[in-house]
Amino acid sequence: MATEPQCRLVMGLFWGDEGKAKAIDVLGEHADIVARYGGGANAGHTVYFEGEKYVFHQVPTGLLRDGVTGVLGAGMVIDLPELINEIRGLTQRGKDVISRIVLSPRAHLVTDLSRRIEAIGESKQEIGTTKRGIGPTYSEKASRRGLRVDDLLHERNLSGKMSAQIEYYRPIFERAGVPVPTADEILAPLLESRKLLSQIVGDVSTYLADSLHSGKKLLIEGAQGAMLDIDWGTYPYVTSSGTAISGVAGGLGIDPRKIEQVVGMVKAFTTRVGNGPMPTELFGDEALPLRGTGQNEWDEFGATTGRPRRCGWLDGFVLSNNCKRWGVDRIFLTKLDILDGMEEIRLCSAYKLDGKVCRSYPSSATELNRVEPIYEELDGWEKGVATAKVFSDLPENAQYFIKRIEQLGGCPVGWVSTGPGRLDTIAR
Ligand code: GDP
Ligand code: IMO
Ligand code: MG
Repeated sequence: MATEPQCRLVMGLFWGDEGKAKAIDVLGEHADIVARYGGGANAGHTVYFEGEKYVFHQVPTGLLRDGVTGVLGAGMVIDLPELINEIRGLTQRGKDVISRIVLSPRAHLVTDLSRRIEAIGESKQEIGTTKRGIGPTYSEKASRRGLRVDDLLHERNLSGKMSAQIEYYRPIFERAGVPVPTADEILAPLLESRKLLSQIVGDVSTYLADSLHSGKKLLIEGAQGAMLDIDWGTYPYVTSSGTAISGVAGGLGIDPRKIEQVVGMVKAFTTRVGNGPMPTELFGDEALPLRGTGQNEWDEFGATTGRPRRCGWLDGFVLSNNCKRWGVDRIFLTKLDILDGMEEIRLCSAYKLDGKVCRSYPSSATELNRVEPIYEELDGWEKGVATAKVFSDLPENAQYFIKRIEQLGGCPVGWVSTGPGRLDTIAR
């Protein structure tokens, strides 16, 4: 058997929800540490283990495996009361994770103030965010007004900082006719959660450097996907952080050259929640076979917000661009079983804009709203993916579909997921 890389990144190549958690759960077998580098409770990472469903938002998914340490990096924005709820929920289910978490003191805190500001602004901006206060918190960070884990841990001028923050936002509240909160009101839940911090805060960068030096294996858990990246995604319909490999070095404080393998997550069809361009989107009944009705746990309804996800055929132009841009070494393909029973499958291999085939991925949402996807029509297959145990069990047409994904991505499909469970995975 080939040796496992010491440091591996799992990142989404689309608009999130590609099945990253499933891959982390499978690949976690070889990991000592699983680390999140960006985002916060906007992520919803679902895993099925021993017949039970677990949804992770801020706690790294890899903590489901005993003995794994979970790192929450400086690039994350932490909703502390929610993090504590998540930890408590896991403890109640017999997963004692508190002693296995290392949280960066540099991570910024999401406060109820940021969430209220987002609730006011969101109705105007119409990005369709998860309403977890992510955008305002990253804005506070970039404007150097943010509150960090470290500030709370050492109770550094918290009321002064919070009062200044409230003054900054006061005109927004007043214009919207929403009562302006007091600093005490916003700080109370944070102060209540403060006790736990001393148990989990640690220098993430030193911890990871020492661990790698001593031969430990690190699995890096991406959140969101490359098309939601603040720079390279479908701006402004994106999240507020670097979601791709570019976010790793800053978010974890590690030498990016330590990453030996980039695993790109690809779902057999494309989904998106929230607004913004999605060239291969299908509407009405056409999207139903891909989305499902909500009867199955894995049907396409958001794990964080419950919203129905927009669904469409696999966007191979997004795939080829992101594999090239982010140096993807291996693809982890999920939800191939959903295509079981489809007579015809479409795969978008390129876009046309104003009659010309696009060479690069269009940089603006305005252009993306005008592109015309160019489809390949492939023969489907009756059934067989959901029950396949080895690659050769897969229907021939499914094997051909995988081959086309490899050609477009320019790298091998290393894993095929045939169902939500850990064991529903074909490793090649
Ligand atoms: P993430 O955000 O990338 O971790 O993905 P989510 O957890 O939000 O959404 C993926 C959904 O698909 C979850 O409900 C998973 O359990 C489910 N899932 C993952 N892989 C497969 C698969 O191969 N087949 C099926 N049917 N479901 C899958
Ligand atoms: P995981 O890790 C899917 C989307 C939101 C919205 C945009 C901005 O589960 O793949 P935000 O709240 O981040 O300011 O919202 O980004 N979004 C996600 N979509 N999966 C996610 O995470 C997402 N995290 C954010 O729907 O369109
Ligand atoms: Mg998700």
